[in-house]
Amino acid sequence: MYWTENLATGVDAIDKQHKDIINKMDEVFKSGQTGKSGEEILKVLKYLEGYVKKHFSDEEQLQIKCKYPKYQQHKIAHTQFIKSVDDLFEKFKKEGPVLTLIMDVNKTILDLFVKHITMVDKDFAKFYRENQK
Ligand SMILES: [Fe+2]
Ligand SMILES: [Fe+2]
Repeated sequence: MYWTENLATGVDAIDKQHKDIINKMDEVFKSGQTGKSGEEILKVLKYLEGYVKKHFSDEEQLQIKCKYPKYQQHKIAHTQFIKSVDDLFEKFKKEGPVLTLIMDVNKTILDLFVKHITMVDKDFAKFYRENQK
C-alpha cells in the first residue's frame, strides 16, 4: 500500500481519485510478482493512463470553477506528465512488454505522480478549500 496520509490534499473528490490511482499502481507491482504476463500488465497500465487523464481533466474543471490563479501552470504540469508517460510507453514499442521494464515504468510513473501531488496538487487543494463557494 503506497497511499499515506501525508498525500492527502483535504479535498475529498481529489483524494479519492489519487487513492484509486495509487492503489492501481500497487496492483501493477503485485501482478508483476504473481507471474502475470507483460501483455496483461501493460493493459492495466494503459487503463491507468486513461484514468489519470480523466483525473487531470476533473482537477482542471475544479480549477476553472474556483478561478485558481495558477491554472495555466498546473495544466502545463499535467500535459508534461502525460507526455512523460507516453514517452515511457514508446519504450514498449521498441523493447516489447518486458516485465522488468513494466515494473520500472510503473515505479517512475508512481514517483512522478507522488511528486505532482505534493508539489502541485496540494497548492491547488489549499486554494480550493479556501475559495470554494
Ligand atoms: Fe494535478
Ligand atoms: Fe491530482
